[in-house]
Amino acid sequence: MTPFFTRTLVATALLSLAGGAFAQDKIKVGFMLPYTGTFAALGVAIENGFKQYVDEQGGKLGGKTIEFVKVDDESDPSKASDNANKLVKRDNVDVMVGTVHSGVAMAMAKVAKDNNTLLIVPNAGADAITGPLCAPNIFRSSFSNWQPGFAMGKVAADKKIKTAVTLSWKYAAGDESVKGFKEGFEAGGGKVVKELNLPFPGVEFQALLTEVAALKPDAVYVFFAGGGAVKFVKDWAAAGLGANIKLIGAGFLTDGTLEAQGDAAKGLLTTLHYADDLTNAKDKAFRLQYAKTYKLQPDVYAVQGYDAAQLLGAGLVAVKGDVANRDGLVKAMEAAKIDSPRGPFTLSKAHNPVQDFYLREVTGKVNKNVAIAVKGLTDPARGCKL
Ligand code: PHB
Repeated sequence: MTPFFTRTLVATALLSLAGGAFAQDKIKVGFMLPYTGTFAALGVAIENGFKQYVDEQGGKLGGKTIEFVKVDDESDPSKASDNANKLVKRDNVDVMVGTVHSGVAMAMAKVAKDNNTLLIVPNAGADAITGPLCAPNIFRSSFSNWQPGFAMGKVAADKKIKTAVTLSWKYAAGDESVKGFKEGFEAGGGKVVKELNLPFPGVEFQALLTEVAALKPDAVYVFFAGGGAVKFVKDWAAAGLGANIKLIGAGFLTDGTLEAQGDAAKGLLTTLHYADDLTNAKDKAFRLQYAKTYKLQPDVYAVQGYDAAQLLGAGLVAVKGDVANRDGLVKAMEAAKIDSPRGPFTLSKAHNPVQDFYLREVTGKVNKNVAIAVKGLTDPARGCKL
């Protein structure tokens, strides 16, 4: 064989090896989650839940080994574009999974759109993500901020509560949660008499509680979560306002927080797409395995992480792990019926869960399911053109 032919053969062999490597045998998942700050525990629960599902599948989805990289987004919107770009451009992830904070998630959605990267949002409720920012490559396994707010508004009106003050962090999630509440509450005959707020992630609640006491509403609807929710519920109890005013909220107020809140949370009513005492078989198995693996009780965030992995799994199985087959992947994810610990759900056209909202009451250390507040609630997806 001439040297020319030898070189050609070697080059061809190398090329086909490279080709094999390009038909990738691994899928890279980039977690962008808060691992520090008021939402740190929420980020950890999401990662735990996601990994639990992958582990249950033997570490593979659609026949491909799942690899992880992660970045702490600190729930800081000013660092969000840089962080998301690192995952996409430096780490070359196949899919981004994140995040908790609505402002950070909106920046992630923009990066996902610009680069056509697959994004699964495992918490952040920003209405825009399945509204004006909706896209074929953007999915959510959690909720829109409108959903639990609207459900609680309806419950409050049904309970003949007449007046309410709202109190929340001043950013997309707080504003939109309050908007949803107001829509449900006022449609049922209630009246929001004042909207109070403070900057995220502030916990200086005293002046606001004084104002609430002076306004004397029938109820206060709040949006707080994580460390901030723990502090708020304790401050509320210490102020003794609960004797005359009902504290209600989106379920984040008491989810993953009950150990730390102790007796201060007793009897609180909230609405959410999960409760701690559901009776379906999937939830029982999920909770048992989670407690065994992580030595922690699961919460809504763990469920949303688990279901983000289930959603990705549904897509990857359908395309036999060929992540480059984006159309096939998206179609299968859109059509997925997720057997969630929260109960089964499907996705709306805008890629947001259509799901039941439970009215829960804090009883001992659990958010007890009292009733279904709204069955099969669909986010209106205002502004989504899919
Ligand atoms: C949000 O920013 O969208 C958010 C954060 C924490 C929650 C729920 C929603 O528990």
